[in-house]
Amino acid sequence: MNEAPIGVFDSGLGGLTAVKELTHLLPYENIVYFGDTGRVPYGTRGSEIIKQYAAQDVSFLLSQQVKMIIAACGTVSSVALELAGSLPVPFTGVVKPTSAAAAAVTRNGRIGIIGTSATIRSGSYRWELNLLHPEIQVFEQDCPLFVPLVENGFIQRDDCVPREVARRYLSPLRDAGVDTLILGCTHYPILREIIGDIMGDHVVLIDSGKETALYASHLLRERHLLREEKTEGECSFYVSDSTEGFSQIAGIFLGQNIKGNVSRIEIQDYPPYSP
Ligand code: DGL
Repeated sequence: MNEAPIGVFDSGLGGLTAVKELTHLLPYENIVYFGDTGRVPYGTRGSEIIKQYAAQDVSFLLSQQVKMIIAACGTVSSVALELAGSLPVPFTGVVKPTSAAAAAVTRNGRIGIIGTSATIRSGSYRWELNLLHPEIQVFEQDCPLFVPLVENGFIQRDDCVPREVARRYLSPLRDAGVDTLILGCTHYPILREIIGDIMGDHVVLIDSGKETALYASHLLRERHLLREEKTEGECSFYVSDSTEGFSQIAGIFLGQNIKGNVSRIEIQDYPPYSP
């Protein structure tokens, strides 16, 4: 079991922000990544569809004999909650680890949350934060244009298009005086510099991919599930749309050129996982 890979999935490329951290934290681990590039975005869809897609993504990863599954997607983590308790392998989404990190750093108890429309509608981060500290004040904003901007490469710090979109979404949170901002969608760290410029230096940005990778690494260590062989781990990437162009954009998320194979799968062929 310990030699088995870690399974990570997202609606598209955003989950690679978690893979980036995982490869730093656990360099000997093998990773299987699935990005549902043929059906991205999830965040603008209704919850039944998101649940069905998530159950198929999980089904594919289980077919790869993974030892743990990470839903590196704020939307799935917020909507497909029943997955958490029903899988035959350890599982984590992004909401719990990210909320815990935000609650630990806020000084004034005012936390902003940005995410997809489905994530914000679910109230998942708000609920988790209030569970940790009922006195925390939460300010939420959905940012539906961020995922398409990122997936299409509109990410340069000086590009007026993402800057203007970010300014419109983020101004109310800045004006509310938050001192901590949860980047509640794993695509958003790619816009980190633009978001930081608008929020100001005093606002701490919490990266959901990074916090989740950290949490997953603790969990695997605690459960004695880490690989025993100390050789460099490998990543295999799977997508549900063309592999062309994936490597180039994936490199931006990973912060380095992609190593490992990229293959296309027919995700529709995987029956939704049910316990
Ligand atoms: N990375 C996904 C998330 O964290 C993107 C959502 C989407 O596909 O809309 O929510």
